[in-house]
Amino acid sequence: MCGIVGYIGKAGAPAVLINGLKRLEYRGYDSAGLAVIDDERVVVAKSPGKVAALSDRARSEWPEERFETCTSGIAHTRWATHGPPTEANAHPHLDGSGDIALVHNGIIENYRALRARLEGKGHHFESDTDTEVLAHLIGECDKGDLFQAVCDALHQVEGTFGIAVLCSREPERVITARRGSPIVIGVGDGESIIASDASAILAHTQRVIYLDDNDIAIVTADSVEVRDLNNIPVTREIAELGFDAEAAEKGGYEHFMLKEIHEQPECLANAIRGRLDFDLGTAVLSGMGTSPRELAELDRVVIVGCGTSLHAGLVGEYAFEDLADIHAEVEQAAEFRYRNPIIGSRDMVISISQSGETADTLAAVREAVQKGAFVMSLCNVVGSTIARETGRGVYLHAGPEISVASTKAFTCQVAVLLMMALKLGRGRRFSREQGMRLAREIETIPELVERVVAQSEKIRKIAADYADAEHAFFIGRGPMYPVALEGALKLKEISYIHAEGYHAAELKHGPIALLEQGTPVIALACDIPGRDKTLGNVEECRARGARIVGIVSEGDFEVAECMDDAIYIPRCHPLVATIPTVVALQLFAYHIANIRGCEIDQPRNLAKSVTVE
Ligand code: G6P
Repeated sequence: MCGIVGYIGKAGAPAVLINGLKRLEYRGYDSAGLAVIDDERVVVAKSPGKVAALSDRARSEWPEERFETCTSGIAHTRWATHGPPTEANAHPHLDGSGDIALVHNGIIENYRALRARLEGKGHHFESDTDTEVLAHLIGECDKGDLFQAVCDALHQVEGTFGIAVLCSREPERVITARRGSPIVIGVGDGESIIASDASAILAHTQRVIYLDDNDIAIVTADSVEVRDLNNIPVTREIAELGFDAEAAEKGGYEHFMLKEIHEQPECLANAIRGRLDFDLGTAVLSGMGTSPRELAELDRVVIVGCGTSLHAGLVGEYAFEDLADIHAEVEQAAEFRYRNPIIGSRDMVISISQSGETADTLAAVREAVQKGAFVMSLCNVVGSTIARETGRGVYLHAGPEISVASTKAFTCQVAVLLMMALKLGRGRRFSREQGMRLAREIETIPELVERVVAQSEKIRKIAADYADAEHAFFIGRGPMYPVALEGALKLKEISYIHAEGYHAAELKHGPIALLEQGTPVIALACDIPGRDKTLGNVEECRARGARIVGIVSEGDFEVAECMDDAIYIPRCHPLVATIPTVVALQLFAYHIANIRGCEIDQPRNLAKSVTVE
C-alpha cells in the first residue's frame, strides 16, 4: 500500500523525506517521489522502483544546496492502482499551474467524472491517476488560500484519501487531511512530520496527533491546527507512540500475517467499494471488458491458479454454478498447461494470482490465450505480468501482502469472484431482486469479518489446546470444502503440523483410519445446506476419539454442543459465509504457529511468489 511522508522544520527536507520513505518500504510499493519548495517553486523528483533509485536520481539531478536549504516537502511511495508503476504515475502530482503538489493514499471513486469536467475547462493530464485529478481540482479551487482550496476540492470528492499538499506560495505550511486512509502527525521540537503510519515518524518524535476521518490540518514547524472540512476547529490530543520502529512497521502487530488478518475488513471494503450496483442488483466490474451479450453467450468458466489462489477458485466454482447457472471448472495451473485442455472462444478462463507472477499460472494464461479463450485475471499486484498479459480482469485492491502465507488476498479473491458470479448471473437467470439481495449480502462482508477478527483472543485460547498436535483434519461440504483445504494449507504452511483438508463425506473413505485419541478435526459446520450431514461426519470422528473444533453459526447451540470447542461466525449467505469462516481458520493457524514458536512470516522452504515451474 502507498505511503506518505511530509516534513516541515529546520532540517534539510529531501533527506528527511527519503529516510521516512525508507521506513515505509515494508508496506510494498513500486515507485516513489518527492517534492520540495526551492526558491518559491515546487520541484519534484520521481522514479519507478525503489526509494534508493529515487534518492540517486535526486542526488544526481538536484543541486547540493537544495538538500540543505529546503526545509519543507512531501513524499510518497506508490503501490499502483490506477495505471502502471511509471514515473508519470508516481506521486507527487502537480496542479495545472505547477504551484501545488499533492501526495495521496486511497481511491478517488468519482475521478473519471471530475477528470472529464476539468478537461472540459482546459486541464491537461499527464498520468492515469486519480490523484492527479485531485491535484488539478485543488488548483481549480485555489483562490489564493491553499487551505480553503483543499477543503473545497475535498467536498467534491467521493472515495477515500489521506493527503499532504504543498504550495509554492505558502512554503511555511503543509496541509494534510484524511478520510478512510490514515494520517498521523509527529509533533517534534521545531519540526513536524506527517506520515501515513508512525514508522516514518519514530526517528523524530514519540509525540503524535492522529487525524480522524474528515479532519484537515494546517501543519507548520511549530504548530498543528486541526479543523473539519467546514473549517470548524476540532481538538485532537497529542498522544505518545510508545512503540519502537520495528513494531511500527507491523503496525504494532507481532507478525505481518497477524496484521494482514486484521486488515481484512479494510481490504475487503476496498475490494468491494464502488463495485456493487444496488439498483440493478449487479456488480460493476469494468475491467472485465465484456458486454452483457458476450457474457450471456459463454458456455463455461474455467478457473486456474496455484496454492491459496487455487482454493479461492474452488469457492468461485460453486459461486458460478450456483449464482450464474454456468458450468464452471477449476484446474491447477500447472496441470492445465500440459494437458492440452479443450478450450474455445465461448470459454472464460479466469486466472487467479495474488502476485500476478506465478510461473505456472502465467503459462496457463498463455495457453488459454493461444486457444482463443476469453482470458481474465484476478490479481492483487497492479501491472504484474499476468495482469498485463490478460489485459482484462479485476484487481483485488487488498494492498501489499507481505506474509508468505496468504490471508487477505484469499478473502478479497473470493469477494471478487462472488461479484463476478453476480454479474454473470444477472445476464442469465438471476432476477433483479435476487441480485439486489446478494449485493446487500456482499456489502456486509467487511463487517462480518470484523466480528471474527474481534474473536482473536478467544481463538488463541482454543488454539493453545491444539498446539501440540502432530496431525489435523479439516472437513467441510459444498463451498466449505475448499475452505477446509485452505484452512489445512494455512496450518501446515506456518505451524508445520501435518494437516489435510477433506470433503466431510470423504473422510470415511480412508483418512478416518488415521484418527486417534485426541486427533484434532476442524469441522466447518455453520448453518448452511449440508450442516446436518457434516454433523453426522463429526459424530463419526468423535466415535474414534477425535477432538472437534467446530466453526458454527452464531446462536447455533445445538451444533456447538456436538463440538469440543466452537468458534462462532455471523449468519449469512452460504457463499458469503466462506469468508468469515476462513478468517477464523487463519487466526487458528496463526495462534498455533505462534505458540509453537514458528517463523510465521517466512516459513521454511516457502516463497511468496513462485516464478519457477
Ligand atoms: C506460493 C505462495 C502461496 C500462494 C501461491 C500462489 O506458493 O506461498 O501463498 O498462494 O504461491 O501465488 P499467487 O501469487 O499466484 O497467488
